Amino acid sequence: MKKHKNEDGTMKQETKVIEIKMEKEIKQEKTLEDLPGVGAATIEKLQIAGFNDLMGVAVATPGELTDATGMTEVAAKKIIAAGRSMLDMGFSSGLDLLEKRKNVMKITTGSKEVDKLLGGGIETNGITETYGQYGSGKSQIAHIIAIRAQLPADKGGTDGKVVYIDTESTFRPERIVEIAKGAGMDPDKVLKNIMVARAYNSDHQMLLAEKIEDLIVKDGHKIKLVVVDSLTAHFRAEFVGRGTLAGRQQKLNKHMHVLSKLADIHNLCVYVTNQVMAKPDQFFGDPTEAIGGNIVGHNSQTRIYLRRGKKGTRVAKLVDSPYLPDGEAGFVITGKGIEDI
Ligand code: GTP
Ligand code: MG
Repeated sequence: MKKHKNEDGTMKQETKVIEIKMEKEIKQEKTLEDLPGVGAATIEKLQIAGFNDLMGVAVATPGELTDATGMTEVAAKKIIAAGRSMLDMGFSSGLDLLEKRKNVMKITTGSKEVDKLLGGGIETNGITETYGQYGSGKSQIAHIIAIRAQLPADKGGTDGKVVYIDTESTFRPERIVEIAKGAGMDPDKVLKNIMVARAYNSDHQMLLAEKIEDLIVKDGHKIKLVVVDSLTAHFRAEFVGRGTLAGRQQKLNKHMHVLSKLADIHNLCVYVTNQVMAKPDQFFGDPTEAIGGNIVGHNSQTRIYLRRGKKGTRVAKLVDSPYLPDGEAGFVITGKGIEDI
């Protein structure tokens, strides 16, 4: 800085800003390889467990790292501390965060009640998860927002394209045509803007999610919604038995991190669906335990539980939202999509 000292105050300031920026860039370039005392084998184990970057390590618990790598707890604590000091674990000012929230867009669902429950619609810049029994409406909502996301922002959309990862072959172009027509949109145009990929197994599903970054950055697609329907079905089918549960959770965690990062960096909406299972001690009523447990729950900003209501209606219950009160809204599935009762 001293080198640039001169009478011109503004010049001095400019130099300072550039230097700070460069320092930040250098900090961001650090990777797992920069952690002291961590070798290639450990890095591989960390990555398999979903700890792909320094931030992952910095916010992990020692227990998670010992489970993932077999290292001692002391060593785990050491690399967590190192990760934290290397990263700009920075504080953002409340004002910066407010500024970021202003860029959040909301995709309306077509039901005023459901939109109200969600504070306007399904948000960008985060993951929204619906979970519930078969036929509760998870895939129907996926179809609806794949269409409505394409509307301009002042009409309840994001003016963007859609990536639809279909794991159970439940994407129905005919249904898109029907709902799009109902909304007065050009069905062919709507279908063109939905990039559908069938995922044949969990590895394929993860790979597809990783490719989305290229679609945005390299190919220049303005993707504003990523649907993964279903998020957990392949994982559930492939990892059976208690012995493999930890492995499943680690893979799911890694997958969710990729999705979460996309949502954050590109201000896009990630919508994932999840099945439920009965609790071991529950003999009747609706099973309410979501598959994937904490891993899925903690990575989803907004969680909506869907169930069948009376006379063919459906009920959406807001289970977890960072800033909205919990509540419920009823809706019906119709030719047009979903509507208020
Ligand atoms: P799983 O994937 O099996 O776990 O269920 P899901 O929650 O994804 O259910 P989905 O969204 O597929 O909802 C199925 C329900 O939507 C059906 O029970 C139908 O009542 C309704 N539905 C599906 N397709 C149509 C349609 O084309 N028109 C109308 N009116 N309703 C439909
Ligand atoms: Mg479905």
